Amino acid sequence: MTRRDETYAVSVPGASSFPCSQGDTLLRAALRAGVPAAYECNSGGCGTCKFVVEDGEVAVLQEEPAGLTARDRRKGKQLACQTVPLGDLTAQLLLNPQWPSGHARPRRFSGEVTAVRPLTHDLVEITIVTDRPADFLPGQFAMVGLDGVAGGPAHTERAYSMSNLANPEGIWQFQVKRVPDGAVSGRVTGLTRGAVVHLDGPYGNAHLQDTDRDIVCVAGGSGLAPMVSVARGLAVRPDASRRRLDFFYGGRACRDRCAQEFVAEISGALSQVRFVEVLSAADEDDWDGPRGYVHEALAAAGPAELADRDIYIAGPPPMTDAVVRMLVLEWRIPVEQIHYDRFF
Ligand code: FES
Repeated sequence: MTRRDETYAVSVPGASSFPCSQGDTLLRAALRAGVPAAYECNSGGCGTCKFVVEDGEVAVLQEEPAGLTARDRRKGKQLACQTVPLGDLTAQLLLNPQWPSGHARPRRFSGEVTAVRPLTHDLVEITIVTDRPADFLPGQFAMVGLDGVAGGPAHTERAYSMSNLANPEGIWQFQVKRVPDGAVSGRVTGLTRGAVVHLDGPYGNAHLQDTDRDIVCVAGGSGLAPMVSVARGLAVRPDASRRRLDFFYGGRACRDRCAQEFVAEISGALSQVRFVEVLSAADEDDWDGPRGYVHEALAAAGPAELADRDIYIAGPPPMTDAVVRMLVLEWRIPVEQIHYDRFF
C-alpha cells in the first residue's frame, strides 16, 4: 500500500516497529530509528544483514549481491541493506544483542566540497562541509553519493570511511582511491571545490573502543582512512600521554606511501608510537625498508607485545582475512579485542 506521507511501518517480531521512508532500505530505516539491526558493510557484500520477509512486498537494489548465496536465495533470505520496502512490512530482522552505545543514528544530508588534496598518485583526500555537526565515532564510515550517476542507490553511492574526527563545524574528510572504471570513485576523485555531495551516515561497528588497552592499527591500501581516524581518536583522549600505538601499514610501491604523514601528526600526543611500513612490490632501487604484506609484518612483530591490545584492521578483504585468521587461530586473541568491518 502506497501512502501519501510515503512512510511505511516495519514490524520486527520481538522488537518494536519503526517507520521506513519510501525508497529507504530496510537496514538504514532500522538504524535511523535506533533499532539495533546486525550489519557490517551496508553495501551488499558481507551477508551479515540477511533476513526473511514474513509479510509484505519489497524491491531489491542488487539482483545478485555478493553477500547472498544461491542457497540463501533458495531459503528466501534477503539482505536488509539491499531491500527497499514497497509498503508495510513484517520482517525477521537479525538484531545485534551487543549493540554498542554511543552510535549516532545515521541521517541523510548534503555538503559542499571545500578542499581536494592529492595524497598519492591515486589517492585523494576530499573535505566536505555540512551545515550540521559531524557526529561519528573514529573508524566509522558514511555513504557518499553524487547526482548524475546512472542507476539507483547501489550504483550512485559508495561507502567511504572518515579519516578525521567528529567536530561541531560539520567537516567530513575522506580518502578516496581512484578505481579504474569506478562510476562513483572516478567521479569523487574528480570533484572540485564547490561540488555538492550527498552523505548518509554514520555507519560501522569497527570504531575506537572505550577501553584502557593500548592499540594496534593494521591498514592496507585504501583502509588507511579509518585507521588514521582511530589513531587520531586515541591521540585526543584525556589519557593519550599514557597510551601506546603500533601502526602497521601495507602498500604496493613507493608511490603509495602517505601513511607516515598521519602517524607523525599524532605521535607527539602519545607515550609511544611504532610505525611499521611494508611494501609488496617496491622497486629495488627506491625502497630499502621491509618488503611483503602487512599481515607478514604483524606476524614478524609477534604476539608477545601485542596480544593484550585492541587491534583495528581495515583494508582489502584478503588482507583482513589473513590478519584475523592469524589473530584468532594462532595468537588466540579474544574476539572482543579485534575490530573490523568486512567489505567485499
Ligand atoms: Fe548487508 Fe553487509 S550489511 S551485506
